[in-house]
Amino acid sequence: MEATLTQKQGNVTIPMEFKNLLATLEGGIYTITINRPDKLNALNQETLREIKAAFEHVVANNDIKGVIVTGAGPKSFVAGADISEFAGLSAEGGRAFAASGQAIFKMIELCPKPVIAAVNGFALGGGCELAMACHMRIASENAKFGQPEVSLGLIPGYGGTQRLTMHIGRGRATELLMTGDIVNAADAYRVGLCNYLVKPEELIPKCQEILNRIFTKAPFAVAEIVKCVDAHYAEGVDGYQFEVDSFGRCCGTEDFAEGTGAFMEKRKPAFTGK
Ligand code: COA
Repeated sequence: MEATLTQKQGNVTIPMEFKNLLATLEGGIYTITINRPDKLNALNQETLREIKAAFEHVVANNDIKGVIVTGAGPKSFVAGADISEFAGLSAEGGRAFAASGQAIFKMIELCPKPVIAAVNGFALGGGCELAMACHMRIASENAKFGQPEVSLGLIPGYGGTQRLTMHIGRGRATELLMTGDIVNAADAYRVGLCNYLVKPEELIPKCQEILNRIFTKAPFAVAEIVKCVDAHYAEGVDGYQFEVDSFGRCCGTEDFAEGTGAFMEKRKPAFTGK
């Protein structure tokens, strides 16, 4: 199935075609659905390239205010990197494979607009890594999370060893990584891997509700929050100093004047992103 969208570059609008993604834009929410349900939405290289293009589109298109990432069908968010592409990977090829995937997931993590993973089934291997690269994870009751790469003689390569440790702590992450165990949504929620646990029919509405609340806030400040949170984990960066500089940048915006002015005047702010 193919989805055609348009991508704005300056004043030029060019067609954008995806083979493995469905993409819709409604009410400022760009919903990216990984669409290989017969392969449980496994990420082959072509799909990864399309995800990269979709996120470049997110950054460039002012009509997009936030993103939901989900998987097609009721069974799977993403069941991992496409194992059929692993055959014959050399040590050097494996490094390149991991590095290119990591770069795409880092781009998602640093997206200046809010990105929520709507996890609707298996989030395994690269699927768990994709969900963890998003800013938040909302899990349906049928979600299952895990990093089973160790069963394939591998480790996660798209940031899983780092982000799982970041999200659920060293001891729990090490156990999941070493055992390859798959945990259900309730356990994932208990250890903080997902923000909310909802019924399947509430999954997308819950993501939309959170995004719509964020859309009432100042977009520049929201983008600065992405950078500040990342600074906490970035090597060699003083997160507190980064926050000081970021606070200063916010104070230089029109939206800061609007937000504080609106509070004093007891009215709702009308943010413009400037
Ligand atoms: N890569 C490639 N193909 C995958 C895949 C993956 N990561 N995960 C599932 N598929 C394919 C299966 O090969 C199968 O394809 P086929 O019908 O052409 O044979 C199809 O998706 C359905 O999967 P199936 O295994 O029949 O479903 P299931 O309900 O019995 O099992 C899982 C579901 C998720 C437990 C099982 O598919 C699985 O273990 N997948 C691999 C998970 C993994 O190791 N991910 C990390 C990869 S690094």
